This record gives sequence, C-alpha cells and structure tokens, in this order.
Amino acid sequence: MSQGFIRADDVLQEVLTPAAVRRLDMHYGNHDLIQGLDLLGLAGPFYRVSPWELEDESGARRINASGYAAVPFGDMPPEITSFLQQFLERNRAMGLPQQSSSPWRAALQTNLVRLLARELPSHRDSQVFFCSSGTEAIEGALKFAKAWRPRAKYTISFSSGYHGKTFGALSLTPNPEYQDLFRPLVPGALTSKYGDLDALARLIRKVGARNVVAVVVEPIQGEGGVNIPPAGFLRGVGELCREHGIVVIADEIQTGLGRTGHWFESAAQGLDPDIITLAKPLGAGLTAVGATIVRAPMFNKMLGGLSSKRHSNTFGGNALAMAVGMRSLELLIEQDLPARSAHLGAVGLERLRGLQAKYPALLEDVRGQGLLLAMQFRPMVGVPLPGVLREVVFEATSVLAMRALHEAGVMANLSLSSKRTVRLTPALNIPEGLFDELMDRVARFAMAHPTSGRILTNTPAGVTARLAQFALAGSRGKKLSPSG
Ligand SMILES: Cc1ncc(COP(=O)(O)O)c(C=O)c1O
Repeated sequence: MSQGFIRADDVLQEVLTPAAVRRLDMHYGNHDLIQGLDLLGLAGPFYRVSPWELEDESGARRINASGYAAVPFGDMPPEITSFLQQFLERNRAMGLPQQSSSPWRAALQTNLVRLLARELPSHRDSQVFFCSSGTEAIEGALKFAKAWRPRAKYTISFSSGYHGKTFGALSLTPNPEYQDLFRPLVPGALTSKYGDLDALARLIRKVGARNVVAVVVEPIQGEGGVNIPPAGFLRGVGELCREHGIVVIADEIQTGLGRTGHWFESAAQGLDPDIITLAKPLGAGLTAVGATIVRAPMFNKMLGGLSSKRHSNTFGGNALAMAVGMRSLELLIEQDLPARSAHLGAVGLERLRGLQAKYPALLEDVRGQGLLLAMQFRPMVGVPLPGVLREVVFEATSVLAMRALHEAGVMANLSLSSKRTVRLTPALNIPEGLFDELMDRVARFAMAHPTSGRILTNTPAGVTARLAQFALAGSRGKKLSPSG
C-alpha cells in the first residue's frame, strides 16, 4: 500500500484480512447491510473453493444456492474464465464502441434474437438494446413502450412484483418498504392482482384501454417468493393486451434463459410479449449484462432516424460484457441447461415437498419450477400479531433460517418482496451429486428445526439480542465495530 491506497494486487493476493474487509466495507459502503449480516455471521467475505462451493475465514464450506438467480455456472466458472483469458490476450475490437459498430455486440444481439425467435417466431426481426443491470433493462422497456403509445399514461404491474429500484422500475414494484420514502414516484403506475385476469380486465376497463401504455409482468415472480401464476393467466394477459393494442413487457430478468426450466418462461406459458427484458444469467456471475429485446417497429419508433440517441448509455454493449454474454449464452445452449434446470428442479421440489409433509410446523409452503425453489416458513411466533409486527416476525424468521441454513452449509437467498420466503437458486450446471448434497443439508437443517419456533430457540441468545437491538434501534449512524 502507498499513500493510504490499497493496491489491486494486494486484493488479488488476499492481503486484506476478512475482518479488515468487513471493517472497510462497513466504513465506506452500506454499513448497516454488512453489519446486519455480520451479526448473523453471514457477512463473509467468502472465497471460492469450486464454482459451486464457498468458504469463509474459518474454512467452513457452503454450497452456493444464492446469487439471486444471477450465477448460472457458479463462481469463476472455468468455461468462462478460460475464454476470458483468450479474450484479454487476443481481442482487438474496441472496448467501448458507443459510436461505432462492434463485432461482440452485433454477435450477441444476433444470437439473442435468433434464440428468442426459435421460441417465438414473431420476434425474428426484433432488436436489442444493451445495458448494465436488470432495472436499467426495465427503464429501457418502459421508454420503448411509452414512445409507442405516447398519449397513454398508465402502466400496470402486479402485486408482489419486483422490477428493480431505479425510479421507473421502482414505481412498478409495489412494495412500501422500497417505494414510500421516494413518493411521488413516476406517475401512472397502477397495480393489479397477480394471477387474476379478471382483475386486470376490470382495471383496464376502469381507466380506459387507450390510456394504458403497457402491462409489465414476471412470468413467475422471483423476488415475490416464487409465485407461479394459474395456467392461462399469461396467455390471457397477452390476448387482453393485444385486443387493445397495449404493450406487453415480459420481465424475464430472473426467469429467462433457463432458470425456470425454459428458455423464456413467457413463451412456455403461451405469451408472446412485445418486449422482453433479460439480465442476470447473461453476465455469468462475473459481470453485468442487461438486454431489452423489442419488436422492430417499436424499437424504431423510439430510436428511429435522428432520434437514434434518444435512449443511450455509456457502458451497454461494451466488448468485455458482450464477450461474457456470448460465452454465457453458448454454454447455456451447448449444455442444454434449461433442460437440466427442469430436471434437477423437479427432484429438488419433490424433496422439499417431502420436508414440508414431515415438518409442517416449520414449512408453511414450498414452491418452485426449475432451479428457482422456495421455502415459505411459518412465523416463529404463533400468536396473531398486528400487520407491522407480523412483517417483522416474518423477516426475523427467514433471516434466522438463513443463518441456520448457512450453519448447515447452504447459502440461500432472501426474497426482496416476500419476507417469509427463502429461495434456493443454485447454479444450473451444479453437479448432480452436489445438488443431492445440497438437498441433504436442507433436510438436516429441517430435522434440527422441526418447528419454526426452534429456529429462534436454536439461535444463540447473544445473536438474537444483538439483532433485536439492531432491528429496533438501527445503528443510528453509530458505526459499531465488526466481528473478528
Ligand atoms: C424480475 C426482476 N426484474 C428486475 C430485477 C432488477 O435487476 P437488477 O437487480 O439487476 O437491477 C430483478 C432483480 O432481482 C428481478 O428479479
């Protein structure tokens, strides 16, 4: 280190101790997030043992079933990193080709559209806009839709939906925790009940179909806790919108490219959307790639002629991200990972159902499709509680369940818009034996916590006390010292 700066090479050589990493991350970053995780013993940093396993500073290993569905091949998968080494040595194409064409961008656009057109032939001439996150892909989608129907003013999304946290996407993410502080949000955002086609028809009728820009829908809600809509819902959304010329945006950021066992979950459920957003798996857990795929007339209405810069960004389509996206898509296709996800997911869901039947006082419900699996816990406190407190109990239950799962060697995900649901989203290429071991560990966790109350009583009192203090008072700007 020199002049107080940390050298990149020191990070690579793991010169920073785990305690120093936590301390710096808290001090200069999102303090309370890391502190909350630290109180639970989940703050890491975690280091790769294999693509699918991570270890902490004590050497304790976990199978990684987290990553918010954005880690399709595990951490630093050799099929990607070896290709990247070649890319870094041999690539001559310009890195940030904002004002020129790019072989990488051109190739990934082509492959994405061809893949989509295989499932939905009406998309064979669609066009792609690249960006660097899911929420940004949604922002693009909302602008394409609005440009298509400029006089309409309402956009409809669904209860428990999650589309991201930038202003446009946030306005369509009906979760008071994320929205309330930021009101007024983007005007015209309306919410309809997920899975209820009649409710959507009523809402459209109420505000007038010609006033509706778009309907934005997740084919299966991920952050909402893995909610699978009733059969026919998505097809019905498509028919209803087509009848009135309303744009349909399928948010496939979590479901797309294999996670749910299909290339495009919307297509599998009979929906032919006008716009599809993709992100998470394209970046292979290594970098950020977002994509908004749009029917050609709609694409060109917003970006046609002299308006071709009406929507743009600096980093979308950069060579490194596109190269990762190319290789990522190639691996998904070569290894037919959607089929693998469907197969392993069915095995996993069966095992979760067995656990729910055995431990009904722990698991209220289990759901899933492909490798998007959910466990919904019964609240730790059985007595009926008023709304706000109930939410706190739900959150505490799943947070402490996460901690217990870690102790059992499983890294899981919370669900951003469903406090009582913990999800398992392992890599789509996880070896079968390791997947079995993952499910064995979940079973051991359930056996040790046959009721949700046991999650609480099995948590060391010191941890519960510090967490309660943290939850009730927050750190109030006080930076507490991290563990270690
Ligand atoms: C369906 C869906 N849409 C949008 C997003 C936002 O993506 P990002 O976190 O990359 O902004 C997510 C993230 O979880 C998502 O699941």
